[in-house]
Formats: sequence, C-alpha cells, structure tokens
Amino acid sequence: MLKYFFIVYAILAIAVLGLFGIPGTKFERPPFRVFPDMDEQDKLKGQKPSHFFEDGMGARLPVAGTVPLSGDDGVFSVEFGEGRTGYYYTGLKDGYYGTGMPEELALTPENAETLLARGEDRYGIFCAICHGESGDGQGTVSKLGLNGVRNLHEDGFQSANYPDGLLYHVITNGKGLMGAYGMNIPVEDRWAIVAYMRAMQQARAVSADDLAQSSEVKSEKGEGQ
Ligand code: HEC
Repeated sequence: MLKYFFIVYAILAIAVLGLFGIPGTKFERPPFRVFPDMDEQDKLKGQKPSHFFEDGMGARLPVAGTVPLSGDDGVFSVEFGEGRTGYYYTGLKDGYYGTGMPEELALTPENAETLLARGEDRYGIFCAICHGESGDGQGTVSKLGLNGVRNLHEDGFQSANYPDGLLYHVITNGKGLMGAYGMNIPVEDRWAIVAYMRAMQQARAVSADDLAQSSEVKSEKGEGQ
C-alpha cells in the first residue's frame, strides 16, 4: 500500500515541478501564456530604451522646426500656467473677472484703431465661422447644425453683465461646447477680439430712434447751410 503512496507522491511532485518550475530559477524566455491578453506588444515605452532607433532611445525628440505650444512669446497662456499672472494674462483682477482693456496694451486713440482692426480681422478668422460675421450666432457651422452657438448680442453678454476679463477667459479656455482658443490666438489678439466684440455689440445697440434722431440732427444742419 505504502509503495503506491510513494509512487503517486513522486509523480505529483514531478508534475508540480514541471508545471511551476524549481523555486528561484530565472528563465531567459518569456513564459508560456495560455491567454496572452496583449501582455506582449511591439510598442515603445516612455523613458525606456529601444533597439529600434539608432540612438537607442524609445522616446523621440520633436521634429526640427516644431513650434512649442507654450513659451515666452505668450502664444499659450492658461490661467494657472507658466507663472503668468495679472489681468492681461488671466482676465482676473484680485480674483474676479475685471473690465476694461489691460494697460499692457498701452492704448492711445491712434493704436486703439489698429487694435480694433486687428480684432475684426481675428474675429473673422476665428469666431465668425460659428458666431456669424455680425455676432448673431448664425455662422456657417451653426447653419450646418452645431446647436447652442450663442448670439453675442444677448443682454447677458453685454459689458455691463459680462466682464471683459470673462470674455478673454472664454476665448482662452473655451466654455461648454466651445473649444479653447488660447493655443491658437496670442494674448494680445485675444484682447483685440474682446475690443472688437464690444464695438460690434455697441454698434447693434443703437436703436432705430437713436438713429432717426441723429439723422434729424444732420438734416437740420443740412437745412441751416
Ligand atoms: C466651433 C464653433 C465656435 C467658435 C469658432 C467660437 N465659438 Fe464661441 N461658442 C460656441 C458655442 C457652441 C457656444 C455655447 C457654449 C455652451 O454654452 O456650451 C459658444 C459660446 C460663446 C460665448 C458665451 C460663453 C458663455 O459664458 O456662455 C462667448 C462670449 C463666445 N462664445 C465668444 C467667442 C469668441 C470671441 C470666439 C472667437 C475667438 C468664439 N466664441 C469662437 C461656438 C464657437
């Protein structure tokens, strides 16, 4: 009886060793996997060497001439990024969205006109496609079916209700369905768009009565001549 026990014991011991190996042994080849589960893949891992490339590095350097998204030229600036603070970069004054054009723009009556022209140009490139040339929210993309594009002449977006800094912030970081444009539009151009949007709103805010009055004044003058 005992003889059979030893035989079975020996067979089991050999089977266990055969299946799991001798403890402490290191294997050169990858283990046999019944279900591979994509454990082994031809891929590059960050910070790991690779024999595939001549320089032996897995991580690749950017192609020559690549333009960084961030840098000292102020192309990309987010609220909490790169230590950039102050109204000009964040739209915030003492923690609240401020109003008015930042002093960094050093506006004078002469260069204000240039800024507005720049804003009109940039608005036409970046915003009109959705918000429409006139800001009424009826741009090409909204006509093609993007819902929820806002009419920028709504009361809620007038400067009395919607600070310039917030407008700057929305252009920079986006909001809801609208994407962020901070990466594409330099800081100064964002303010130029803010200025142009204000001018656009004020142009629309002139009522028919105001207009009639101003034309009367003109015609009176005309009669007096
Ligand atoms: C791809 C289309 C698209 C473009 C381009 C676009 N917007 Fe918008 N914008 C939207 C949509 C959609 C909303 C509504 C977002 C929401 O409430 O989900 C919106 C909302 C807004 C709002 C209101 C945000 C709020 O507080 O409710 C402002 C202001 C605005 N856009 C300004 C701009 C300006 C300025 C530009 C150009 C730099 C611009 N948008 C470019 C689609 C666009």
